[in-house]
Parts: sequence; structure tokens; C-alpha cells
Amino acid sequence: MEKFVISGGKPLKGSVRISGAKNAAVAILPAILLTDEPCTVENLPEISDVTTILRTMQSLGAEVKVINKSTVQINPKNVNSYVVTKEMAEGMRASSYFLGALLGRMNKARVAPPGGCDFGVRPIDQHIKGFEALGARVTIDSGMVDARAERLSGSSIYLDVVSVGATINIMLAAARVSGLTIIENAAREPHIVDLANFLNSMGANIMGAGTNIIKIRGVEKLHGTDYSIIPDQIEAGTYMLAAAATKGDVLIENVTPKHLESIIAKLLEVGATVEEFDEAVRVSMSNRPKQCKVKTMPHPGFPTDMQPQMATLLSVAEGTSIITEGVWDSRFRYVDQLTKMGAKIQVDGKMAVITGVDELTSAPVKAVDLRAGAAMIIAGLMAKGITEVEDIDHIDRGYEKLAEKLRELGADICRMPIIPTDAQLMDA
Ligand code: EPZ
Repeated sequence: MEKFVISGGKPLKGSVRISGAKNAAVAILPAILLTDEPCTVENLPEISDVTTILRTMQSLGAEVKVINKSTVQINPKNVNSYVVTKEMAEGMRASSYFLGALLGRMNKARVAPPGGCDFGVRPIDQHIKGFEALGARVTIDSGMVDARAERLSGSSIYLDVVSVGATINIMLAAARVSGLTIIENAAREPHIVDLANFLNSMGANIMGAGTNIIKIRGVEKLHGTDYSIIPDQIEAGTYMLAAAATKGDVLIENVTPKHLESIIAKLLEVGATVEEFDEAVRVSMSNRPKQCKVKTMPHPGFPTDMQPQMATLLSVAEGTSIITEGVWDSRFRYVDQLTKMGAKIQVDGKMAVITGVDELTSAPVKAVDLRAGAAMIIAGLMAKGITEVEDIDHIDRGYEKLAEKLRELGADICRMPIIPTDAQLMDA
């Protein structure tokens, strides 16, 4: 086990290159199961969620060839299993995408319930509603989600909640079924558009991705493709906020500025300077942030996956800020960690009231989930003194070479092994 050790108080300066989008990668890789031909995927982030998906694909029978650190070639020709076990599924939410992909490939899928970050209840009822509308019978037995169909056919599905996962899973299941499938109240995140572009490059016929109505005209066969994944919106946003929070000046390269609009708007509101280029943004800040109100919403709203990082920036703002979480029931578990560092935050249900303090102070903290972990790293970079962040396997799920990238920007951060205490060694 390892931890990050940060000696904070230094402004980030320089440039950082953003990796491929985690949440696009974890949808696009399972989509390869919808063809029998090899596919090459470029700009994959080097993160543990991608490794988990690749391992799962191998266990199903796919051949995975690593071309270089961000490119793999996958040949799904010999995939003959439709079962994703608990060991494979529990580490991540995106394992649910094997339900849609295997159903689309073999008309059957048996997948252990997905794991991933703990934000309270994480239902998959809308995914199931979609599969059933396409003609599948979905049951839960022996702790596995089992979906089967004699034959799937196109259908109209209205999502009761805007769900990224359900939108993706229905697109996967429907790409090859006969007839027209319409998803209404669909999610509009950049990774939904990227998945649609990927499937279309395989010969699928998907229209409307990026709007709230997606139309999928099923095709009989999909072919192999070469595809490069979009830049990671949330990794980019995390470095943007880290630049502002440390009163730094950072050029964030390999981004799609359009995907960052809601984050840029909030940075401008708190007093940062943001310059936009074709494939880069530059963020700098010299003063204390101003207070603001933030409500997280599905895209194009302010992303829930930037909420903990934003709370960290606002913890030192002038005045009182309010964050309302509009997507998840319980995404403030990190607040206890931030208050250990001197932040003054009161949570009432889905709302956090943040009274800005002059500065954060270093303390030992934990990454309670992926983005909460990113928030602790930003807090550690802001606070003078040594901050240690434990449970960093959450962070490794979604941020490629975090310490290396931050060191390039002048941060003092390293990974250190956690030495177990005598009592822990006795227990082991
Ligand atoms: C995706 O999760 C992302 N994960 C999450 O990012 C992100 O927080 C979330 O979308 C919202 O943007 C991946 O893409 C792998 P949802 P997902 O289905 O698909 C409710 C990160 O940090 N809901 O859009 O699981 C649900 O309870 C991760 O990278 C239902 O009620 O999220 C929630 O309130 C963490 N029934 C809301 O919809 C369902 O069947 C949005 O969930 C499905 C969801």
C-alpha cells in the first residue's frame, strides 16, 4: 500500500498534457465486443480502471495486444464467455457496460453488480428498463445480473433520470438489433458522443448523441476500426482548479475547451484568469478566490465529478459559498477529511455551506473515492506543511501519472509505501 506525501504551499507553474478520457475509455473498450474484427484504440489513459476492463475482456476470450503505453489492439473474435464475475466487476462501475455489450453480441450476459465509488445507492433500474424494452428478460440471481433474449428489437425508451450509464448501456445493446431504438431524456456527456462516434466508425448508425434524444438504427454487423479517445474533461478540470487553488499559472494542453465551459465559467466567477486556445486552456490566479454558488447537474451543467475539487478551492474563498449536489444522493463523504485540514463546511443533505478560511493546514487524510482523492491532493498542494493522503488506489483508478504530472508543474509530491504498524502486522 502506498500514500501520497505532499509538501504544499507552492504555486503550480508550467504546462501539463491531459490524457484520454477515463469515462470514454471504459465504455469504448467493452463496445469492441460488438464486432469480430480487431480494433485499435489510441489515447487510452494509463489508469487502473482501463487495466481492469482490459483484463475482463481477456477473461472473456478477447486477445489484447499492447502497441504502446496509450494504444491497444483488441481482437474479440474468440470471445465466447458471457460471464463477468464478482472479482472482475467489483472494482469499478463501468463493469455494467459488459451487460449491454455482451447482450448486443450474444443475446445474453451475466455480470456481477458493478462496484465503483460509494455515493450512496447506485441503482441500475434504468439500464434494466432499457434492456427489457429491447426484449431482454433481466433477473438477479445468486448475486448476478442476468440478461437474456431470444431476439432483441428496436424500441423507444424514456429514461426517468438522466443516466450516463443507462444511456451508454442501451446504445451498446441496441447498436446491432433490428429496427430503430430511441432513447429520450438521454445523457449528453462528451463520453456519450465519443462512444457514438466510435460505434459509428465501426459501421453503426447512431444519431443525436450530445442531445437528449438519441436514435439508433440497428445494423447487422459492425466492423473493426482505429479510434482515438477524447481528452479527459475531468482530469483537465482538476488541473485547472489545482492551478487556481495554488495561485499558479498553468497551460493545460490536449483538451477540448468546449467540454470545459461550465468549469471555466465558475473559475472566472471566483476571479481566475482563463485563456482558451484551440486545444489548450491557461488558468492563472493571484488573489484569494471569491465566493460562489455551484449546482452540479448532468452535462452541460457543472459536473458532479468536479464537485469535491471545487469545494476545496472554495474552502479558502472570501465569504460563504454554497454547493448543491444535483446528481448523487451522497457525495460529501470527503468533507470530514477536508475539515481535518481546517476547512469550515457544513453539509445539510445535498447542500454544503462553505465558510471560506484564510488557509488550509496540512493533515493526514484519506481519498474516500476517486474525485474526493483529487480534492485531497489539491488541498495538500494548497496547505503549507506536509499532507499525507492514504487510500490512493481510488486516485490511481482515474488519474494517469498524477504525481509525475504535478512534479513537472513544480509540486513537491511523491508516493511512499505505507509501513504497517506492529499491530497491523500481527493482524495480517
Ligand atoms: C457516470 O456514472 C460516471 N461514471 C460518474 O463518474 C459520474 O459521476 C456520473 O456518470 C454522473 O456524471 C462513468 O462514466 C464510469 P449515472 P453512472 O447513471 O453512469 C441515478 C468518476 O468520478 N440512476 O449518470 O453510474 C443515479 O443514482 C465517476 O469518474 C438511477 O436512478 O451515473 C444518479 O443519481 C464517478 N437509475 C444519477 O442517476 C439508474 O439506473 C446519475 O447516475 C442509473 C442511475
